[in-house]
Amino acid sequence: MAEQSSAVARYGHGSRIPGWDDSVDLSKDPAVVPDPATTPVPDELRAQIEAAMAKYPNFRSAAIPALHAAQDLHGWCSPTAIEQAACVMRLTPGYLTAVATFYDMFETKPVGRQRVYVCTNISCSLRGGKEMLEAVKAAAGDDPDLNVRGFECLGACDIAPMASVNGEFVGPLEPADAEQLIADLKEGREVLPDKQLSRRACADPGARSDG
Ligand code: FES
Repeated sequence: MAEQSSAVARYGHGSRIPGWDDSVDLSKDPAVVPDPATTPVPDELRAQIEAAMAKYPNFRSAAIPALHAAQDLHGWCSPTAIEQAACVMRLTPGYLTAVATFYDMFETKPVGRQRVYVCTNISCSLRGGKEMLEAVKAAAGDDPDLNVRGFECLGACDIAPMASVNGEFVGPLEPADAEQLIADLKEGREVLPDKQLSRRACADPGARSDG
């Protein structure tokens, strides 16, 4: 079996973070909170972020759901997406950029809107997760609407190897599922309904039982 590439990009001094050792430009004006008068924010995005902020004693705790909402709307954490979220939260864009660049689930470059995260962490890789990722990548081809990537443990090791497809967990997968997974996604169908974690029998009486 061919060895999978696991090279991680490295920057100055071996860091994985681009620009971490760039010197600060002290001649720049201090960052400011975006002005609501000049920063249009879609009503739905504003409502989502405000609802998230209301859930926490410290509104900054809503940074992650706010970024999720902005990413869902814009497709990625673009400068505009971050500016709008920062405007609603009354934070600087830099504050939210620091969060977005730390967490793997936020995209800081344009990507396909359909997210397929195939887990390649220990439990999944022991059960063929890396082969699964290659099979899904092959099925997806170069469709720019698809964002297929490997991911660290998604916390569903009991259905290894698994994937998150636009947030829906599916597994256990086998390479033969890859074509169907991509076809379901492209045609707007539920993806692999028989393998959705949310449809599995559960001790929770409130869990879905329509599978
Ligand atoms: S290792 Fe894949 S979900 Fe945990």
